[in-house]
Amino acid sequence: MSRTVIVVKNAQTLAEDGASLFEAIVDEAIQERQRAVVALSGGSTPEKMFGILAQRPVKWEQTLLFFSDERFVPLHDPVSNYGMANRSLLGPAGVPSDNVFPVPIGAASASAAAVEYEAILELELGATPSFDLILLGLGDDGHTASLFPWTAALGVQDHLVTWSPSGTLPPPVDRVTFTFPVLNTARKVVFLVSGAKKAVALRSVLEDEPPCEERPAACVKAADVLWLLDEEAASLLSPSTVTGRP
Ligand code: 6PG
Repeated sequence: MSRTVIVVKNAQTLAEDGASLFEAIVDEAIQERQRAVVALSGGSTPEKMFGILAQRPVKWEQTLLFFSDERFVPLHDPVSNYGMANRSLLGPAGVPSDNVFPVPIGAASASAAAVEYEAILELELGATPSFDLILLGLGDDGHTASLFPWTAALGVQDHLVTWSPSGTLPPPVDRVTFTFPVLNTARKVVFLVSGAKKAVALRSVLEDEPPCEERPAACVKAADVLWLLDEEAASLLSPSTVTGRP
């Protein structure tokens, strides 16, 4: 596993550099495999990057977009990850709707939505999908996607997608999430982490090798993991942890 840890000045630079990284990874995938398969992260951090990305010349007609996790709420709900991506990126960039695969939040429950989303992944990508890029964030409790500390979702190894009751962090809604097997078979995972609130969890994840139950993000072991951080989030890291530019 290759790990790169890059620190940039602030949230704006993080968004700009994240958008450039996204462009480069997608371009390379399209050149090599004629398409790019990407999972978008949720929460608030990616929104600024998505807004910048919407103005970049990405070949959206050759890019498939999935969601590494979703809140089990209607797509137009203010806390919907799809809703955020649609407002900031999908709509403004004119991404073809046939290339976007939202979590089926119309299902009877988050558990049923997970089963349906897994079937969608298998139909579109096969039984062992390998994403070209999975974007992830970091919760200040060390969770990523909707893999929350001390939950059953962390132990799911025989499914691509599972569900989880809401963690201790808002919003208090059930979630649908990729499992570790999907995250860890991605060609590249990029974490975007911004703000002082994340500093303690980030230092723990990157320097302490904590148990998965305690800091789930520490167990993302894809072949190539890149942490793109702003100075506030990286403020507690040892200099030796930071590797510089990609
Ligand atoms: C979610 C996200 C989650 C997020 C982190 C960081 O649905 O909540 O996928 O994993 O990436 O909680 O969220 P912020 O970017 O809002 O700090």
